[in-house]
Formats: sequence, C-alpha cells, structure tokens
Amino acid sequence: MTTRTGTVLITGAARGIGLEFVRHYLARGWQVHACARNLAEATELQQLEQSGSGLSLHQLDISSDEQIAELTLALDRQPLDLLINNAGIYGPKKLAFGEVTRDRWRRVLEINTISPLMLTQALIGNLMAGRQKKVLMLSSKVGSISDNSGGAGYYYRSSKTALNQVVKSLSIDLAEKGISVLALHPGWVQTEMGGPNALISTAESVAGLVEVIDALDLQSSGQFIEYNGKQIPW
Ligand SMILES: NC(=O)c1ccc[n+]([C@@H]2O[C@H](COP(=O)([O-])OP(=O)(O)OC[C@H]3O[C@@H](n4cnc5c(N)ncnc54)[C@H](OP(=O)(O)O)[C@@H]3O)[C@@H](O)[C@H]2O)c1
Repeated sequence: MTTRTGTVLITGAARGIGLEFVRHYLARGWQVHACARNLAEATELQQLEQSGSGLSLHQLDISSDEQIAELTLALDRQPLDLLINNAGIYGPKKLAFGEVTRDRWRRVLEINTISPLMLTQALIGNLMAGRQKKVLMLSSKVGSISDNSGGAGYYYRSSKTALNQVVKSLSIDLAEKGISVLALHPGWVQTEMGGPNALISTAESVAGLVEVIDALDLQSSGQFIEYNGKQIPW
C-alpha cells in the first residue's frame, strides 16, 4: 500500500484554481479528494483519475446539505490534513447601484459565505483526525474594506468580506482543537472568473498559495494573505 504524505479535500475542483490545486497535490504524492458539482462533465478530473492513483472524485454542490451529508458518509471519518474551500461565484458582472436584486445577492452569499462554513462544520471530525489541521478559504482582495476604492461589486465584495469574518471567528473557535484557518487571495488569475486580462496563471497562483499554506501554523492563523505571502488589510 502507498503511504501518502497528506490528504486534502478541494471544492470546485473541475476547473480554474481548484483544478490546479488538484494537480499540485497529486504531483506531491498526496491523497486528493476532488469535489465537483457536475462530475459527469469534469473531463480533466476523470482523465487525472484514470492516469494515476491518489485521486478520489466526489459529487458536491456546496449549497446542498444533502450532498454535504453524502460526502461526509463517503469519507467515513478518514483524516483530512487540509480542507480547501475553493468553490465560488462572482454573480452578474458590471452590476451598478440600482440594479441589485435580493435573490441574486442571496445566491452569491449562499455559495461564497454560508456554504464554506457549513462544509467546514460537517468535516470538523475529519480535520481533527488529520495531522496538519488546516482550513483554507479562497477569499478575494475585493473583500477588503480598506482596499475598496472602486465601489460597486455589491454581491461579490460583501460575500468575501463576510467570509473573512467567518475566517476570523473560526480561527478563534478552532484554535483549541489545533486547527488553523486562513483567508487567501489567489491574485488576479486567468480562469473563467478572472477573465482573459488577468495577470497570472493558475500555476503561478497555486505555487504561491501552497507556500502560504505550508507555512501556516496556529500563530499565523486568522489572517488574510495574498498568494505572494503578503498580508492584506481587512
Ligand atoms: N480568478 C481570480 O482572479 C480570483 C480572484 C480572487 C478570488 N478568486 C476566488 O478563487 C476561487 C476559485 O476561483 P476561479 O477563478 O478558479 O473560478 P472559476 O474558474 O469560475 O471556477 C469556480 C469553481 O467553483 C465551482 N462552483 C461554483 N458554484 C458551485 C457550487 N454551488 N458547488 C460546487 N462548486 C461550485 C465551479 O464549478 P462548475 O464548474 O460546476 O461551475 C468551478 O469549479 C473562488 O472562490 C473565487 O472567488 C478568484
């Protein structure tokens, strides 16, 4: 039996930054639980599963409590070193004041803020059984109140600002369990969300993010950190 150096669970793993995290941890010899909301269309994940060992695929829409419960059952108390809450949505782009609607705002908050905490609650036993005990939340610099000089972005900005507050509380509440938590900004990354004008590739972003994750300990828990290691003001 192969001894794996660590175990990670990644949400939104079918494309973008999530898929790059999968590639990175597989290359490092980790056991990777990759979650996608539409496994049937996740062709890159399926190819990775066929071409090597260490990858388990899970169907997971993070906004579904039923699917979170099914995932928890499937994991069956397996230890997790890292939980990477990566899945996220922007919502409608170029939305100005006067165009905000309740339903669309609620959907962005549901995916970006509420669901990462619900999944973390569900998997707390797995994380406590793991060695590294780290929870990572993919936030965004546009969630920084101090950095907001452009206005607008009501759905996305507010969802990531609220996620940052979740990170801070989790870092306090979970410290006694030995679990550390970070809000991460991946940079402006060339993905479907980042768009074609984005500044860095997923490989560059994830190479930086994993250095930040590797260095995380209880002392540095509860911070908002960029992929290049710089701290971002709340
Ligand atoms: N790209 C950037 O410049 C940038 C900057 C700052 C922060 N971020 C953050 O980084 C994270 C990853 O972004 P990305 O650029 O890789 O975005 P992306 O290319 O748009 O990919 C988003 C991923 O999230 C998944 N997802 C969306 N809703 C979901 C749900 N309800 N359940 C499960 N999965 C769901 C998508 O799955 P489907 O394939 O099924 O749609 C997709 O795999 C996000 O949290 C984002 O806010 C990105």
